[in-house]
Amino acid sequence: MHFRPARNWMNDPNGLVFHDGRYRLYFQYNPEGATHGFMSWGHASSTDLVRWEEHPVAIRYTEEHEIFSGSVVLDEPDTSGLGAPEKSPLVAVFTLADQVGRHQAQGIASSLDGGLTWRLYDGNPVLDRGSADFRDPKVFRYSGPAGAYWVMVAVEAVERRVLLYRSDDLKTWTYLSDYGPRGATGGVWECPDLFPLAVDGDPSEVRWVLLISLNPGGIAGGSGTQYVIGSFDGVRFTPDEPMPPAVPLEACDWVDHGRDCYAGVTFSGLPDDERILIAWMSNWDYAGRLPVDAETPQRGAMTLARRLTLVRTEGRVRLRQEPIGPQTTTIAELADVRAGAPSTLIEELSERCRIELSVRLDGADGFALDLGGAAILDYSADSGSLRLDRRPAAGAMPDGFGSIEEVRLGARERVELVIWLDRDSIEVFASGGTCTITDLLPERDGAGASIAGRGGSVLIERFVVGAVSATEV
Ligand code: FRU
Repeated sequence: MHFRPARNWMNDPNGLVFHDGRYRLYFQYNPEGATHGFMSWGHASSTDLVRWEEHPVAIRYTEEHEIFSGSVVLDEPDTSGLGAPEKSPLVAVFTLADQVGRHQAQGIASSLDGGLTWRLYDGNPVLDRGSADFRDPKVFRYSGPAGAYWVMVAVEAVERRVLLYRSDDLKTWTYLSDYGPRGATGGVWECPDLFPLAVDGDPSEVRWVLLISLNPGGIAGGSGTQYVIGSFDGVRFTPDEPMPPAVPLEACDWVDHGRDCYAGVTFSGLPDDERILIAWMSNWDYAGRLPVDAETPQRGAMTLARRLTLVRTEGRVRLRQEPIGPQTTTIAELADVRAGAPSTLIEELSERCRIELSVRLDGADGFALDLGGAAILDYSADSGSLRLDRRPAAGAMPDGFGSIEEVRLGARERVELVIWLDRDSIEVFASGGTCTITDLLPERDGAGASIAGRGGSVLIERFVVGAVSATEV
């Protein structure tokens, strides 16, 4: 359910594309080992975004360049001329990174077999600013009054700027505009994405979402991803709420409030009203120090795929995420149970499961949900905050791993959570998915879940655990 390669190092998702009935997931991958280096595009695919099949490395590093993050589009009209008779090419756009000479420029490659094998374009690089930190191109097709063309969003990482370019053929790019530095600027900007979505599904109210990952300087410490809602006129992105160059982190909107959700980008090739994101489930603070199994050294996993929509809530437009998980079988179900002192909800949680919880506060100050002794989710009515404390699981992990994450839900009489637990991670979706916390969570000891009210008893209106069977992942 959480993709991870069989061995070696993985970071960002790259080139997410839905094509010919399959979701393709490329990813930053080191074919040579379990540390960051020799970066290439690993490859996996799926028909349901849940069960992934790993394929051979798709785009390999060369003597001169590593292949850093980027995107894939189907060049249906063959604007690039890289197709064949009756065959539109898939075109990958990525950063050619010369780590020795400190130079980053954008290159392309094409595939005529649906994304299995790729040919580097011999006119690379196609966009070179002579920069050491110009990277992570995300390309999409834009149609406006002036016709259709390709738009690229990429970053000047150190300058904290998102740059927009346009092209008619994916080979020649002209500068359009840029955005930033604004909002959260406490780290380099990476892996931008820009896409339209209808607010509350109303096609007459389309807003554009700009995703900007940054490292460090994320809301939970280390790497994190902010988002900005605005408009895009084919040239320039304009935020709805102007953001000063630097603001407190709490004043920004964040894709996720946990430690382990970074470099998330969305699929191309889906209908306009369908946006699906996958992110890397780790943090640059410690990703390279996570323990590995000596037999099959492997580091890195992806988050669950998440369906994105825009909703208007409390007068603002917010991003909402709905996890796409495997089928589950209900193994526990409770309704209308009161809990004051710690009360067991389930004796034993399965390794992988989905938990749905709805708690009515009934005058209590809050509640604490203990998950397998590895993490505690705590809601406080006073602060209106949901906190995830994973310090109990931090024992064998690298320094800096033990942490408490926090997201403000506001004062609530009822708290509704959907939680996905895997062997080594937790993804919490609160307030209908407008607030999420994603954390790696090793060392769950198979224990159950219990809940306690604070300053009074709470009413568990609903508690359902759905177990994921091994064949579903
Ligand atoms: C983000 C990032 C990108 C870069 C890639 C290199 O995690 O630093 O900016 O392209 O990883 O692996």
